[in-house]
Amino acid sequence: MTPQEEGKRRAARAAMRYVENGMTVGVGTGSTVAHFIDALAERRHDIEGAVSSSEQSTRLLKERGIPVFELNATGELALYVDGADECDPQRRLIKGGGAALTREKIIAAASKQFVCIIDPSKRVDVLGRFPLPVEVIPMARSHVARALVDRGGKPVWRDGVVTDNGNWILDVHGLHITDPVALERDINQIVGVVTVGLFAQRPADVVLTGDAALDGNA
Ligand code: A5P
Repeated sequence: MTPQEEGKRRAARAAMRYVENGMTVGVGTGSTVAHFIDALAERRHDIEGAVSSSEQSTRLLKERGIPVFELNATGELALYVDGADECDPQRRLIKGGGAALTREKIIAAASKQFVCIIDPSKRVDVLGRFPLPVEVIPMARSHVARALVDRGGKPVWRDGVVTDNGNWILDVHGLHITDPVALERDINQIVGVVTVGLFAQRPADVVLTGDAALDGNA
């Protein structure tokens, strides 16, 4: 296992202390979350089940015998656990590298506590080194891309990728995001945008790297 992979596994394991018996847990998407699903499976008899943010995670959860429920059926969740592509000191995130940003943002909004699990390399002072994913309605791709250029970005179509919602992704390069809350609000206003992968208006509540010193519980 590479050091980065080991970091992801440690962060995922650290999130298990937020899982309480009888919970329905919101589950994100990605390689870090895959480790979390493995850990969750060891306690599958203690929990009620999960709400999943992607077809990929749904498959992993079901393979490991964890019941998957619809968010409409569960109502608000106590806990959501997900990874991120970048995280700033205020726990604001860039997400969507795995194209699951829209369902992830919905579950984050519907959850009381959002625990973000990352390997330490994802920590940055200012968001934007990782290209910002934006999910768009396919017919609006060029329109949205022009609007993003007007905002100083260099959007690149993630050609060949279709989201679980049937939409496309633009990855916006070259942004130095000093005011993530304002940029999130602004990009959300562009007609044709489904979701921007900035999680700033609703940041993570807790960020775990699995390193006790970095996580503030040394
Ligand atoms: C999925 O769309 C993303 O938001 C993921 O949470 C993010 O890309 C982190 O993925 P890894 O855990 O694979 O790095």
